[in-house]
Amino acid sequence: MIKILVVDDEEPLRRLLNKELTRKGFSVEVAPDGKTALSLAKQNSYDVVLLDIMMPGVDGISVMKKLKTDPSAPAIIVLTGKATVETAVEAMKYGAYDYLTKPYKLDELVIIINRAYDFGRLSIKTQLLEQELVRKETPFRFISSSRQMKEIHDLIQKIAPTDSPVFIQGESGTGKELVANTIWHYSRRNAVPIIALNCATFSENLIESEVFGHEKGAFTNAYETKHGIVEVADKGTLFLDEIAEMPIGLQAKLLRFLDTGEFRRVGGNKIMNVDVRVIAATNKDLRELIRQGTFREDLYYRLNVINILIPPLRERAEEVEELAVFFARKYSQKLSKTVRGFTPEALEALGRYAWPGNVRELENVIERAVILSDSETIAGKDLSIPVAHTAGDKAAAGSLEEMERDYILRVLREFNGNQSKTSQVLGIDRKTLYLKLRKYGLSDYVKK
Ligand SMILES: Nc1ncnc2c1ncn2[C@@H]1O[C@H](COP(=O)(O)OP(=O)(O)OP(=O)(O)O)[C@@H](O)[C@H]1O
Ligand SMILES: [Mg+2]
Repeated sequence: MIKILVVDDEEPLRRLLNKELTRKGFSVEVAPDGKTALSLAKQNSYDVVLLDIMMPGVDGISVMKKLKTDPSAPAIIVLTGKATVETAVEAMKYGAYDYLTKPYKLDELVIIINRAYDFGRLSIKTQLLEQELVRKETPFRFISSSRQMKEIHDLIQKIAPTDSPVFIQGESGTGKELVANTIWHYSRRNAVPIIALNCATFSENLIESEVFGHEKGAFTNAYETKHGIVEVADKGTLFLDEIAEMPIGLQAKLLRFLDTGEFRRVGGNKIMNVDVRVIAATNKDLRELIRQGTFREDLYYRLNVINILIPPLRERAEEVEELAVFFARKYSQKLSKTVRGFTPEALEALGRYAWPGNVRELENVIERAVILSDSETIAGKDLSIPVAHTAGDKAAAGSLEEMERDYILRVLREFNGNQSKTSQVLGIDRKTLYLKLRKYGLSDYVKK
């Protein structure tokens, strides 16, 4: 049943609308003023609001603006006493579905209510679809074909919806920030953007006011009150990168914050409270830093509720090829090139290299190669890493598949498109030849 809220300051009109619309099969509630309407709308979910514009106190336009801040707000039909075009236009501008002038015609009103209801359904559906699209078009891709990364990916899916702190460890360039972003992306907190702070980029003096904010006059240059990033990240996720660089004095405050959600701005007395999930990352060995006395053991345990250790790329060499192809496509697109793959020799070199700079180094090497490459395939000579054999004829020939395609085409031409001759020379049966011709788009060269 369609739920309607009628908002009008005239008692007789409210009563009439209530009676007539109830008889037409709608569920109707009434409010005599804007304030009552807003509090009713907060507690109930209406499909359609019939809204008078001219009301004492909170007027109709203000009610509408308030209602419209909620994306799932009901459809609003404006009832305007004075049939002025301006009010109607203004109402539509603020998102009213339609307007009617008083005295209304009941049949017309019923039609508009039904249409507004359908429209509301549709726009919710569109929003859901859009969300779905956004989710599918994530700007980042997390490649996880190795066993270790698959496990990490599964773990992320499991822990993302929780509010537990996450501690990510891994060598430089292994994908710590990507993991943090992926956790945020799959979390219920993804309506608020993830806020990142690199602890290494701030001086010991500044970092506390970056994290927790400061009150005006807290120190010499504190001319204004400043919100800390924990406030900015309220209801969301805070990514503390290079956590090992956090000054030991601030670590105690961070620990308290993690335990209670409470903090004080620098120079402030008031205890503030926010709801923030913390993800921290480091490429250092925190256990070693604890031994040296530069990292608090209690903070380590507090952060370490969920621990993700990303293995270096050399320990998951089977992933190199997929990552390389992914980056080749990415930069080929970005740089408007037509690079599609690698020569076998180039792939071999990529697989053999130890990647001390991990995935970031691989990404840089591929980006450079895409820039340098002047064919569809990246050859050994395009890679700025050690390659076993100097690039010769073999490297210039292209990928295996390309070589195969070229060879089949050459033989096919040689025998004027005769399939049995071709398959004989190639040493494959006719069915296999047929499949390969289809695969490489060569069917047109066949003599019919
Ligand atoms: N599994 C993966 N799939 C796709 N891209 C990846 C993957 N791992 C890392 N990358 C990419 O490699 C680059 C480096 O990753 P990221 O910045 O997350 O590493 P990091 O561990 O935070 O490095 P640092 O220690 O230097 O801060 C980024 O461009 C990231 O998107
Ligand atoms: Mg990083």
